[in-house]
Amino acid sequence: MRHFLDINATDPADLRTMLDEAHRIKAGRGDAAKGVPDDEQALAGKVVALIFEKPSTRTRVSFDVGVRQMGGETLVLSGSEMQLGHGESIPDTARVLSRYVDLIMIRTFEESALQELAEFATVPVINGLTNRTHPCQIMADILTYEEHRGPIAGKKVVWTGDGNNVCASFIHAAGQLGFDLTYTGPERLGPDREFVEEARAKGVKIEIERDPHAAVKGADLVVTDTWVSMHDAPSTRERRHNLLRAYQVDDRLMAGANPDALFMHCLPAHRNEEVTDAVMDGPQSVVFDEAENRLHAQKAIMRWCLGV
Ligand code: CP
Ligand code: NVA
Repeated sequence: MRHFLDINATDPADLRTMLDEAHRIKAGRGDAAKGVPDDEQALAGKVVALIFEKPSTRTRVSFDVGVRQMGGETLVLSGSEMQLGHGESIPDTARVLSRYVDLIMIRTFEESALQELAEFATVPVINGLTNRTHPCQIMADILTYEEHRGPIAGKKVVWTGDGNNVCASFIHAAGQLGFDLTYTGPERLGPDREFVEEARAKGVKIEIERDPHAAVKGADLVVTDTWVSMHDAPSTRERRHNLLRAYQVDDRLMAGANPDALFMHCLPAHRNEEVTDAVMDGPQSVVFDEAENRLHAQKAIMRWCLGV
């Protein structure tokens, strides 16, 4: 059974297969002459459950549209409207859903809920974001980097701001795909040490640099995300903003990176908080390509999971 739970839990050769497939799907969509006549029907007769225990725009729409474009059908389920949100256990939910659907995508809170769902499901499970990781996003981001600049191996990525779930999956990708990553942000909001050490053990450079201007020197890609994630208590907002204000991505910070550096953000962005309008809408920004590429990357992930 092929689950897609985390980038560090997926073999690098399989990540490469999915990325190559995503490039091919994007290049050839609707064009049988380019060698993808089967894409439109790859999921024919299949039903995919999309479970959301948190809000979503991109993940919800890109999975739903991706399944439809491949001839399958979706059930979009809100956790709070399922018995899952009213005391039914995750193992029982997994066992029941596996009798009805062919694939489950879940956006949830604890990583342990995702792991438990995968343990008890008899169909593949895809991680659509947890408090700890967001692997589908990073597959789309790597796809985006490659289409603009070629291979990411050996490049320098700088993550600025909160060392959150999206940052964690970028660190996983650094270890698996062989690029260096510098985290710049306050000590209290830094990335998970376990993930940093795990990536370092794979031979890539993962650096921690408190000064954002020193961090971006030589950067090929600058990435940030919201300062308050969906799982963060609203009461922490002011403290987080105070700690993170110095790590905003603005023109001055981008000017310190390599001249051809790209800017990425998984979205939704809080404009003029973690990133200025000028950078979001500027020539180095590829944020809307990232959003589009969720669709292509996830089609490849779903096909890999289902072996179709
Ligand atoms: N980037 C991302 O996952 O966006 P949504 O929260 O809108 O799904
Ligand atoms: N770090 C953000 C990502 C949203 C797509 C969150 O978890 O809310």
